[in-house]
This record gives sequence, C-alpha cells and structure tokens, in this order.
Amino acid sequence: MKKTVLVSGGAGFIGSHVTVELIEAGYDVVVADNFSNCDRTCYEGVKKITGREDLPLEVMDFCDLDAVKALFGKYHIDAVIHFAAYKAVGESVEKPLMYYKNNLVSFLNVLEVAQATGGCNVLFSSSATVYGEPDAVPVTEATPRKPATSPYGNTKTMCEDILHDAVKASGGALKGILLRYFNPIGAHPSALIGELPRGVPNNLVPFITQTAIGKRECLNIFGNDYPTPDGTCQRDFIDIVDLARAHVFAVTRMIEGKMKKDVEIFNVGTGRPLSVMELVNAFEKVNGVKVPHKFAPRRAGDITAIWADPTLANTEMGWKATRTIEETLKAAWAWECRLAGK
Ligand code: UD1
Repeated sequence: MKKTVLVSGGAGFIGSHVTVELIEAGYDVVVADNFSNCDRTCYEGVKKITGREDLPLEVMDFCDLDAVKALFGKYHIDAVIHFAAYKAVGESVEKPLMYYKNNLVSFLNVLEVAQATGGCNVLFSSSATVYGEPDAVPVTEATPRKPATSPYGNTKTMCEDILHDAVKASGGALKGILLRYFNPIGAHPSALIGELPRGVPNNLVPFITQTAIGKRECLNIFGNDYPTPDGTCQRDFIDIVDLARAHVFAVTRMIEGKMKKDVEIFNVGTGRPLSVMELVNAFEKVNGVKVPHKFAPRRAGDITAIWADPTLANTEMGWKATRTIEETLKAAWAWECRLAGK
C-alpha cells in the first residue's frame, strides 16, 4: 500500500521540491501550508511537474492545535516532514518572540498530535546554523553544536532537542530524523518551481539572480577580508533537487524501519566548499550574464567558513549530492528568467 507523507510548509521553496521528489518516488503527499511566506506558484508548479492535479492541499496554521488534530484525523499519515517555520535570520533578531512562538509551537503541536494519534515518523528540517562558527571544517554530525547567532538559529537547536526528548519519552511511538541543511540553492530543472523571496532577498543566490536580471542594481559581497583563500566567506551550496532527494532517502529509511537509533542526524551538503566570490564568478560564466557587484562590510552574524562532511548520509542513507554547481546555477537563472517572463 502507498504510504502517505505530510509535508508542512509544502508550498514553500524546499517543501515544494521535496513534494515533487516524494511523489516521483511513489509516495502520496499531503501538502499543508498557511501561505504566510509564499503564494500558490510552487504548489501549482508541483502539480504540473508531477501531473497530480488532485494533490491534496490543506491551508492551515500549525500553531492551531485543533487544525493539526483535524489534519491527523483526516489522513493516515506515515511520516511527517516539518518545514513550516519562519526563516529570516535578521527578522528573527528584531522579532524574537514571533520566531520562538511560531517555530516552536508549530513543531510542538505536530509532535503532540503525532504521538496522540498512534505515533509517526518525524523528519525535522534543521540547519548547519546549529554548528555556529565551527572550530574546524568540514563538520561532521559529531561536531559539537555551538550557541546560535540568532533567534532563528536558536529555534533550530531547540527543535532538535525537543525532538530528542519527545522521541525518548514516547515509548517507541515517535521516531525522528534531523536533516541539517547547508546552503540550499537552485531550482527544479523544469523551472516550474524555485525560490520566491518576498521583498529584498536575504540569501545570496536570489540576490545574484535578481541583480543579473536587473531587479537589483548591485550585489553587495559582505566582507572580503575573511581568513579564506580569496577573503570572502565559504559555504557548502547544495542543489535544491539533491537536497529534496535526501528527504526521500530519510523518509524511506524511517518507514522501512532501517534506522539504527530512534533519532538520527545527517548533514545534507556536498562536502565541497565554494566562496561567495567563486559562486558569483561561476554564475556569470555558466549563464553568460554579468552580476554587478562590489565589496561591502561584513554582515553581522556571518560565519567565516562552513561546509559539510556528508560521509554519514552517503554511507548510511545511500544518498549523495550529484548535481554540479553549473547545473544548479543554470537552473537558478532559468527560474529567475521564467519569473520575469523571459
Ligand atoms: C543563512 C542562515 C542559515 C540558513 C540559510 C538559508 C545563519 C548563520 N545562517 O545562511 O541558517 O539555513 O541562511 O536561509 O543562521 N552574501 C553576500 N551578499 C548578499 C547575501 C549574502 O555577500 O547579498 C553572503 C553572506 O555574507 C554569506 C553567503 O553569502 O557569506 C551566504 O549567505 P546566505 O545565502 O544569507 O546564507 P547563510 O548566511 O550562509
């Protein structure tokens, strides 16, 4: 029988790509979203890519406990992937209570209801932000977590802890996987779904694509005096489709009972560091467009260099990032061009 996966925040950037990969892997998916930070573009795009015009959509807020209860009453859910959360680092510094309330309460509600309705496999979307400024790179899952540099980052660390405690106390009803994402970028090769930031993008790649298309005048490269080979920060940029595929491996591992511990943690990255400057250069080269840029002061809270050691995900889950940075940056550009009607 087909298994059903609930994707909270399933209409967003990561959620929509994960939904596509799950459907293509043979899962039934229920998308749930309150559209607080996205419109219906990606949900419609997912339906087109998969040909699933009947893809269930529940418009709801995971902070509403009754709504979460109703959702779990309506569907038999084998696994839940929880994305529904706020994610802007700077905004979280200005509005910490809004971040703690939304990101923690929604996850608590999912866990409470999942357990009460007989148990479930829970995949939580965590972040490399939990490693803070690491003492050594690359980071493995055993690298100690460091205090987060923002309330947003704190909510990731706290939700990791909450999942550990909830699983431990659940008597086997709950099992969990924490996926720690590095820097997800790009778009689906169909250019039907991709990143749709509201207002001025905080993240690097949407800022690059919007500058290249002329929506922004100039990209500020925050800091060129870091102790890195070219002075700009280094990150592990992971293709969004590769990242989405990691969720299929993780969900299957949980559903097929292949986990070795009740909570498992995997880094989801390429293992390949790329500097901000290298990324900008690669984007210009592969797409044959210019990205006007200048160096600007460092951005508060930025980490100098972080990239993943993805060995555990490679060997244990059998997942590996396969897309090249060129493919990824081409897809990001194709998506921006499609948005601009070009
Ligand atoms: C941040 C979050 C991370 C989150 C990720 C995706 C922290 C410390 N980091 O990662 O948890 O998962 O966003 O939402 O909480 N840059 C520029 N110019 C720009 C934009 C960015 O030079 O206009 C640089 C930044 O200084 C940084 C790199 O590009 O060195 C990547 O920035 P960004 O895309 O915002 O991701 P992170 O800060 O790495």
